[in-house]
Amino acid sequence: MKHLSLLLALALGLVTAVSAGPTVIECWFVEDADGGRLAKKPAALLLRQGPGRIPPRPDLDPKRYLRVHDPTGTLQAAFRRYPRSAPTPHCEMSHYIPLPASVNWVKGLTPEQSCPRALDGTWFMVSMSSPVLSLSSLLQSQTEPQPDPGLITMATAVLTVITHNPTTRIQLGQDALLDLSFAYMPSTPEATTPLAPGPPPFGLEWRHQHLGEGHLLLAATPGLRGQMPAAQDGAVAFAAWDDDESWGPWTGNGTLWLPAVKPSQEGAYQATIYLPYLQGQVTLELAVQKSPKVSLMPSPLVWAAPGEAPPELVCLVSHFYPSEGLEVEWELRGGPEGSFQKAKGQSWLSALHHHLDGSVSLSGHLQPSPVTTAQHGARYACRVHHPSLPALGRSAEVTLEVAGLSGPSLEDGIGLFLSAFLLLGLFKALGWAAAYLSTSKESKKKAQ
Ligand SMILES: *[C@@H]1O[C@H](CO)[C@@H](O)[C@H](O)[C@H]1NC(C)=O
Repeated sequence: MKHLSLLLALALGLVTAVSAGPTVIECWFVEDADGGRLAKKPAALLLRQGPGRIPPRPDLDPKRYLRVHDPTGTLQAAFRRYPRSAPTPHCEMSHYIPLPASVNWVKGLTPEQSCPRALDGTWFMVSMSSPVLSLSSLLQSQTEPQPDPGLITMATAVLTVITHNPTTRIQLGQDALLDLSFAYMPSTPEATTPLAPGPPPFGLEWRHQHLGEGHLLLAATPGLRGQMPAAQDGAVAFAAWDDDESWGPWTGNGTLWLPAVKPSQEGAYQATIYLPYLQGQVTLELAVQKSPKVSLMPSPLVWAAPGEAPPELVCLVSHFYPSEGLEVEWELRGGPEGSFQKAKGQSWLSALHHHLDGSVSLSGHLQPSPVTTAQHGARYACRVHHPSLPALGRSAEVTLEVAGLSGPSLEDGIGLFLSAFLLLGLFKALGWAAAYLSTSKESKKKAQ
């Protein structure tokens, strides 16, 4: 019997593990208040409900406590896969009024001038954002009598626009994919498609906002004729319904593809889905990065006499982006005072050098302090920190030789010169031999 209850507990545990993720999303209801201000009142969305009664929320006005019916399953799926470690999404909602779109190229979506009765009732727009998702959903409250009017308001998610990747970081010059999907289920089939069954025509728009300036990047209306603005920056979107059901629900893909991203393409991207009288919108961020190459001069050795300062060290930090957030640190590794310490001396950074691809380079300089014989064999290192690099950064190092210890004496110098001279002779001889061998091979081949 004990085993049975243990099994049961395990099974229950599994069930709860499968249906993980929040069931209630706390929200703020935003509306206009006196004097042009905005008032925020607490609200909540009940996404799923276990067996039994609706969890009571006496702290909320029942008009702002919504039981969400989600016929496309998009909200449910998004929160089922919501990572436990991720912060809870920031949620805001407000009243929404179905209206024809204001942009010209989607006028074809609403040829008749009156809003269909199927769109009657109270509408809400819910926007949620967190590091793992950003979404906007249009909810229509049920027009038929509400089952629990004093407790909760029943509302149906009609259009949901969602991205699972609100912030995309991309290496400079690579292609970026900005994830966008949407789902639609009209409250009654004739709400939008009086003639043909199947997924309705829709409009997709991507706008780019950078340094306070916005411009239309791409517009598409699959299934509608009309004059389209040309796409900018080589942008391409997958603007299509994924399914071909007669009466819905339908899900679609509006992912944007940007080839060979440049720094000027950074910023906010606003995606809008247009359906007759309904518009859903989410905003994504694109950040461009390039990690620096780091090298140190002189290399691989730097010489100094005891009590004297080694020559200036130059750390080349090249082709990185953005220019903000770069730090250069100087270390002395393996010296007498411990294995790891700040290098003594005077350090400074050069001005930025701009490259055609938008990346930048600079150099870090160190005029080291005089050295002692005990520091022989220690290594100077420049360590570079940049947002594109792991926390430890990237470094390059050079070994310090304190002359008079094993540094080159005059005799050593002559020895070096002689061996270089001999080596050069040897290379020359080898070169001649190789040339001779290859020509004789060639002539043999020709002879065959
Ligand atoms: C949308 O289309 C793109 C390109 O084919 C694909 O990479 C992405 O996975 C699609 N998104 C969904 C949600 O199917």
